[in-house]
Amino acid sequence: MSVLVTGLQPTAGIHLGNYLGAVRSWPLLQQRAESFFFLADLHALTVPQDPKQLRDNTLDCVAMLLGCGVDPERAHIFVQSQLRGHTELAWFLGCRTSLGQLERMTQFKDKAAKQKDDFVGAGLLYYPVLMAADILLYGANLVPVGEDQRQHLELTRDLAVRFNGSYPGTFVVPEAFYPENCARVMSLQNPTVKMSKSDPNRAGVLFLSDSDGTIRKKIRSAVTDSGRELRADPTKPGITNLLNILSGLTGKPIAELERHYGGSSYGDFKGAVAESAVAVLGPIREKYFELKGKSDFLRDVLAEGRNAAQARADGTLAIVRDRIGLL
Ligand code: TYM
Repeated sequence: MSVLVTGLQPTAGIHLGNYLGAVRSWPLLQQRAESFFFLADLHALTVPQDPKQLRDNTLDCVAMLLGCGVDPERAHIFVQSQLRGHTELAWFLGCRTSLGQLERMTQFKDKAAKQKDDFVGAGLLYYPVLMAADILLYGANLVPVGEDQRQHLELTRDLAVRFNGSYPGTFVVPEAFYPENCARVMSLQNPTVKMSKSDPNRAGVLFLSDSDGTIRKKIRSAVTDSGRELRADPTKPGITNLLNILSGLTGKPIAELERHYGGSSYGDFKGAVAESAVAVLGPIREKYFELKGKSDFLRDVLAEGRNAAQARADGTLAIVRDRIGLL
């Protein structure tokens, strides 16, 4: 059976980009592969976090993942920081990672540029090494992610190949899996930048916990262009983004949507996107609110996930420690 690993930072809830670019496919994938889904709280620490909020958000994200159809009976759901192996393996890998390669990562450059007071924590630079450890620790051959993680996945493959060059057969070299559409959902307010939790303009980010009214409002006020033609085109990033979102929500190809809505006004089209979003996200939100307060249950889910992950992680680390010569 294939082994699948992927993670999500438990900060400020899950948004439509996370859902359409990643989480949407997890319920299907969990049926086909032994799946490890984790909350990447150590990654979240690369920028300042409020301790209480981080803890609350972590449990909240578990409730939301279950709302999205992730099934703890099939998949292992756990918190990254509860397994020491992630940081340990990251150290071993980091000793074999070139500084230049890390400095060239676009996410590092972007995030570093956004830090206040010119303070750029070394964790931001080290982030992709920790990500490689997250994946290689479980012998994953499949990693479903959005397009923004492409460079990190390539680094992970490089590191696995390099390590295997010195210590043959240690790591499985993983394949990334990107969704056919919605691998990059853009902000509703600025469709030239990706939808992101750190966007100060909340109107551009649709959260899965948003009410029906908020969903409608955010989509209806999405930025489009001044034209009238309804087609996907690089000169029309707003409409292209909405077509892409509708395609992700309905499973219909963009060409079919272009034909269907070709004669509609932008206003009517936005209304259709909003109604699709309400139809898909409403039941997820309901399930989430049902589970949100059940913290004992959510903690049990995480404990089971951690035990399963621990067994696999320990196996990999024992092999690595032996091969690199630790006593
Ligand atoms: P994170 O928490 O930023 O995002 C979680 C998942 O959502 C995808 N994603 C998007 N997809 C489409 N459009 C968007 N606007 C958008 N924004 C986010 C991400 O690609 C991701 O799949 N570093 C990772 C978490 C991580 C991880 C890992 C993932 C840590 N270790 C190991 C896979 C394997 C992150 O910050 O994702």
